[in-house]
Amino acid sequence: RALRAHHTQRPPLNSVTEHDLAHFAKFLDPPAILSTLPPVSLPADELDQFNNDWMGKYHGSSTTVLKPKTTQQVSEIVKWCNERCIGIVPQGGNTGLVGGSVPVKDEVILSLANMNKVRSFDPVSGILVADAGCILQSLTDYVAPHNHIMPIDLGAKGSCQIGGNVATNAGGLRLLRYGSLHGTVLGLEVVLPDGTILDQLTTLRKDNTGYDLKQLFIGAEGTLGVITGVSILTPPAPQASNNVILALPSFKNVLPLYEIVKRQLSEILSAFEFIDRTAYDLAVKHGQGRALSDQEVEGAECFVLVETSGGRREHDEEKLADLLESLLEAEKPLINTGVLAQSPAQFASLWALREGVTEAVSKEGKPYKYDISVPLSTFQEVVDGTREHLRSKGLLGDHAVKHVIGYGHVGDGNLHLNIVAESYTPEIQDALEPYVYEVVASHRGSVSAEHGIGAMKTHALHYSKSDVSIAWMKKIKDLFDPHGIMNPGKVLE
Ligand code: FAD
Ligand code: MLT
Ligand code: ZN
Repeated sequence: RALRAHHTQRPPLNSVTEHDLAHFAKFLDPPAILSTLPPVSLPADELDQFNNDWMGKYHGSSTTVLKPKTTQQVSEIVKWCNERCIGIVPQGGNTGLVGGSVPVKDEVILSLANMNKVRSFDPVSGILVADAGCILQSLTDYVAPHNHIMPIDLGAKGSCQIGGNVATNAGGLRLLRYGSLHGTVLGLEVVLPDGTILDQLTTLRKDNTGYDLKQLFIGAEGTLGVITGVSILTPPAPQASNNVILALPSFKNVLPLYEIVKRQLSEILSAFEFIDRTAYDLAVKHGQGRALSDQEVEGAECFVLVETSGGRREHDEEKLADLLESLLEAEKPLINTGVLAQSPAQFASLWALREGVTEAVSKEGKPYKYDISVPLSTFQEVVDGTREHLRSKGLLGDHAVKHVIGYGHVGDGNLHLNIVAESYTPEIQDALEPYVYEVVASHRGSVSAEHGIGAMKTHALHYSKSDVSIAWMKKIKDLFDPHGIMNPGKVLE
């Protein structure tokens, strides 16, 4: 109760005025200020790409986007907004899937797009220090000639920024092998809500000097400060990468298959990803990746993509071929068939089938995305249960919900439950929530495995976090950001 009272005592947030723009113009070049207010007076649609999220589900009404080039400029902006009680939404590539990257009202959008320089790279340790606005793919390209890769990879790599990845603690396709950003991020530079620059941009592997403050900003979704620089450990590039797509007659086989694959491939296993049949069909329908032949997909209820990354090509290929052989020749085979990539193009194409599901779903309709951690053995039951629940409400059909699909990161216990609808409607929303969250809570799962809370799940946090945890999160938020300017309406109610 006391905490709630404290929140209500916060000063109300103010809108940006011409006076504020005049102040920003003192230290930002004219192209760094996009505003519908005079004297800039852009047409409102010039700000559409910043005000609307990737799915077209969340819409803000900001009048002003600022694109600083330096940490000092970020600090000046934040300091001013704090004094004036103006809300700020830090924005990276705007690929977030929970409405965290767009304003809930007319907060200033602070875009990191112009902070896109690599600061240093040590090819021996593999430690990369970069501005937060560097696009993930460009960092991958930067370290590649030095025989390193980024420890994170995801379908949005061409647009998302490393700062956005850190702010959401994005998981993605390599988590199974390289772990979470809580482990690979070595240091951060953050502008705190009062404008102070917190320089923790160290490049040390080991640093046990009390509280590890940087961890607070990893996954804070911009509610505690603006990340301006990231120091991250990049692994050596594997000498060989292979993949295979396996078609399974039943979801029940996924768990035993995972056990076998882990045992047989051991140290070279680098991904174990799952797509159900509907997700596969949608990926194919919308031109993502290489389709298997009709014969190969016949009778398949779901698919698993297995990737290996290792040190010697012949050794890895042999292990993968042995695995496939033993799976196909087993007395009771767990798989119908498996297709091994035979070339780098096929390797990419098989991956595209899995990575392309997000894109395909968005082309097919309007997705309700639930990104949950539940026991692996319940994945299919959660998907089927949701479909039946919608059917019982009369919402399944061409004019309401078109598909209920499951895909995700089996190796991480992370299911992506997507409900693809004709349009976003209150009826579907009410049928899905709190239904899905209650199912998650019944398994002691997480309502957000990797995408974050954003604006979408502030009301659902309590399904996965205790009252005590939420109360301490609020205390931390109030301590860092007493005026509540940093990404208001996100993560915490
Ligand atoms: P934005 O969308 O701009 O912002 C996301 C959040 O971070 C917002 O709350 C924003 O305020 C905050 N933020 C951004 N930059 C900063 C900063 N510099 N300082 C402080 N706060 C900041 N996620 C996964 O976890 N795994 C996946 O496999 C995955 N695949 C995806 C595939 C596709 C096709 C798409 C569209 C999205 C996917 N995502 C995935 C969602 C994921 O959260 C984002 O892609 C990515 O991590 C967000 O980065 P961004 O730069 O676009 O951040
Ligand atoms: C994925 O694993 O493909 C991403 O998290 C995006 C999504 O959930 O669609
Ligand atoms: Zn994912």
